[in-house]
Amino acid sequence: MKILLTGGAGYIGSHSLLKVLQSDHEVMVFDNFSKASPEALERVKRLSNKNFEVHEGDIRDRASITDACMAFRPDIVIHFAGLKAVGESVEQPLSYYEHNVFGTTQLLRAMEKSGCKNIVFSSTATVYGSPQYLPYDEKHPLAPESPYAKSKMMVEHIISDWNIANPDTTGVILRYFNPVGAHESHEIGEDPQGYPNNLMPFVQQVAIGKRPFLHIHGNDYDTGDGTGVRDYIHIDDLAQAHLDAVNFASKSTGTHHFNIGTGRGYSVLEVVTAFEAASGKSIPNKIGPRRAGNIAEMAADPQKAKTILGWSARYDMDAMCKSAWGFQSQNPNGYEK
Ligand code: NAD
Ligand code: UD1
Repeated sequence: MKILLTGGAGYIGSHSLLKVLQSDHEVMVFDNFSKASPEALERVKRLSNKNFEVHEGDIRDRASITDACMAFRPDIVIHFAGLKAVGESVEQPLSYYEHNVFGTTQLLRAMEKSGCKNIVFSSTATVYGSPQYLPYDEKHPLAPESPYAKSKMMVEHIISDWNIANPDTTGVILRYFNPVGAHESHEIGEDPQGYPNNLMPFVQQVAIGKRPFLHIHGNDYDTGDGTGVRDYIHIDDLAQAHLDAVNFASKSTGTHHFNIGTGRGYSVLEVVTAFEAASGKSIPNKIGPRRAGNIAEMAADPQKAKTILGWSARYDMDAMCKSAWGFQSQNPNGYEK
């Protein structure tokens, strides 16, 4: 199949790109490189031993995304491009709606023009908001709190309305839990720009000596050890979910939502202990106040993805930490040469 990956140079995009290339799909990457390095794509070329087209452009630019779709004529788009920092979205909501919502309508217009009927979309578990019950299944009510999470819910609705209006189209909405880790080669991985917002990249930077200690955001939650619990998912499992979603989309129509997580939650302290064991490094930490808007505990019910996509997670926390450390120790400055 011909697959266009928007945001294909980013963290999740680059790992999924490698996975679809290894399955002999024909690929084009569309990215504006605002949050990613072209070096990630060079490494994917080396790892896969395959070439692919790269179209540098912005999804908000209708002419640019239309040119890419008309030139490549994809059968399916995997749509990763967008902004993802929750705190930043509170300060700059319009940027989030422009990139994530407006950008997606431009993409769908370009897909319509080129006759592309299938899309796999990167959504997030944060669309659920505070849990009414755990684990979240896909029927859990949506109550997004930040502009980021609201933008993702809006796009879910837009894709669903597009599928209703065009009954021969398919939308596969993947609600990721917490992606972590790196490819087994340790050549590609997560390389956040600036101050890392998320736990695992922060822990990696403490281990490599870039940060003196980890700030633990609260230890008075109603969880086993008082620290926040999350459902971490290995990036390679997440990449596989995209390949499975592509195969599923080619055989179905309508909108389909899937949680992509393991179903098992880990507390911050459990992650720190696992990372110390996997890396042999000590992770000093200081307990601080809760982070505003933090949910105590999140975990996925991944049964629907297992039943319908045939997908389930293979990697455990030890593998997640080992690969995260492998990438960080092999690339102390990320993709920077
Ligand atoms: P990332 O920032 O590494 O990748 C995003 C990519 O999109 C980058 O290559 C960036 O340059 C590109 N991009 C951004 N805006 C663009 C635009 N307007 N036009 C063209 N390209 C643009 O992020 P990621 O972690 O790989 O996330 C990929 C997707 O998954 C995002 O949509 C994100 O919201 C979603 N998601 C991520 C997580 C996570 O924890 N990483 C969790 C849930 C959902
Ligand atoms: C964050 C985002 C969420 C996004 C997800 C995956 C917020 C409020 N939510 O959620 O939208 O989908 O990342 O990208 O930002 N922690 C620390 N110290 C740190 C960093 C994190 O103690 O320096 C704790 C957090 O309080 C939390 C856990 O570690 O309990 C995981 O945090 P994080 O990686 O930021 O993920 P989420 O909170 O799930």
